[in-house]
Amino acid sequence: AGATARARAHSNIALVKYWGKNDVVLNTPAVGSISVTLDALFTDTRVTFRSGLAADEFWLSGCRQEATKVARVLDLVRQARGTHLFAVVESANNFPTGAGLASSASGFAALAVAASGAAGLTLTDRQLSILARHGSGSAARSIFGGYAQMHAGSAADGSDSYAVQLLSGADWPLAVVVVITELGAKTITSTVGMGASAASSPFYPAWLATAPGDLADMRAAIAARDFVRLGELTEYNCLKLHALMLTTRPALIYWNAATVAAMHAVRDLRASGVPAYFTIDAGPQLKVLCLPGDVPFVQEALSNVAGVHEIRPSALGPSAFRLD
Ligand code: DP6
Repeated sequence: AGATARARAHSNIALVKYWGKNDVVLNTPAVGSISVTLDALFTDTRVTFRSGLAADEFWLSGCRQEATKVARVLDLVRQARGTHLFAVVESANNFPTGAGLASSASGFAALAVAASGAAGLTLTDRQLSILARHGSGSAARSIFGGYAQMHAGSAADGSDSYAVQLLSGADWPLAVVVVITELGAKTITSTVGMGASAASSPFYPAWLATAPGDLADMRAAIAARDFVRLGELTEYNCLKLHALMLTTRPALIYWNAATVAAMHAVRDLRASGVPAYFTIDAGPQLKVLCLPGDVPFVQEALSNVAGVHEIRPSALGPSAFRLD
């Protein structure tokens, strides 16, 4: 037996997105971001530090995985605790992994909470957010429920690169309808894609220059509970990111035919009077933002789109928490 702890963290979807890194070792982002945490998608993780292990082990739903990124987070926990014990990490998602549903966000947030707990550390939310960031930038936001903002920061040690909560989900309930257009999608990893965009897209400087304005506008939309403003900005920022991806060499084309058809279905629905807005990450799935009472209309409109496999409505989710 060893020191063990379990935690649950929920996935999040960025409304103003992160793409590009300041420092690849510290994994600090080049731009800030704002997200909402999703109730319907989560990761449960158990971490056990024990003697007799030759290295960290990472198991996802019973299958052994590469542990390099997991070990990065565990190294920081070991350093803080002053221990050399390796750990067994057992993780499970309640949704398909690697399908572009942000399993790294919920996964590394759950890992940060479980690993620090198993090591007997008492960390602040800010420290947990920084720890999760070392695994994956978007994971820094999944420490928090509701609406979260990630600060890019500028400190050489990454100490001011963390997320904060803007509002809880209860403060302003919105719905997110997850639209799955491809099962088991394999995509270029974000880290590789970001490096390629920074190195080759002529749009990258514009992406960096316009991020602060989008973040300020989104903060204002959230503070005012202005859904139309939030939605328009979300869709605009998503399409700006994909313009950056499309102009990367070689091109990062994350959409399939159903992704594009679903985008049009959302815009048609909006033209018919239902306020609904899409956003898309580095993968083929859509997330549609709408008011909770409009979820049936969004589901109905998207279920008629050819190539849509599954539709999962979600409320906004809670902060990451210990399960034991
Ligand atoms: C398009 O957080 O997956 O989803 O830090 O390299 O693990 P790493 O990247 P990751 O990138 C997320 C990119 C995005 C936008 C976002 O979530 O902000």
